[in-house]
Amino acid sequence: MAEDLKIIQGSKQEQYLELIPQIKALLEGEPDLVANLANTAAALKEQFGWFWVGFYLVKDDELVLGPFQGPVACTRIKKGRGVCGSSWAQAKTLIVPDVEKFPGHIACSSLSKSEIVVPLLLEGEVFGVLDVDSADLDQFDQIDLTYLEQIVGLLKLG
Ligand code: SME
Repeated sequence: MAEDLKIIQGSKQEQYLELIPQIKALLEGEPDLVANLANTAAALKEQFGWFWVGFYLVKDDELVLGPFQGPVACTRIKKGRGVCGSSWAQAKTLIVPDVEKFPGHIACSSLSKSEIVVPLLLEGEVFGVLDVDSADLDQFDQIDLTYLEQIVGLLKLG
């Protein structure tokens, strides 16, 4: 496909519904995980303009920074630490409306105010997480959870 994204106006749901087939087309026929994570992060950042969008991958029992869009970030996160490490430990999506109220939140940037972290699962095992940060409070809800979980479901190891 042409490597340019059609940016959609409309409700958040409409934006996801138009974006998902474009992400599918970007991933189609490409087996390399890093390439696919990179384009997925770029597509999400371009459509929604969030402060930070990126992936951490499980390596040697830590989360290690992977492809992302946004300012430089912490490179390693331990299981159970911060929002990312908690999402990994619980193998579930976490929505944090106000990061300052999340015990143990890891502040890579003081500009980040709310966050959603979605685990990447293969046969019930977490192999990474998608982390999205907003510079505004309370930016993520069940719509984001539903569609971001669909998007990470398109990403396959190797
Ligand atoms: N805030 C995250 C750390 C990663 S950065 O936001 C990119 C956390 O608490 O896990």
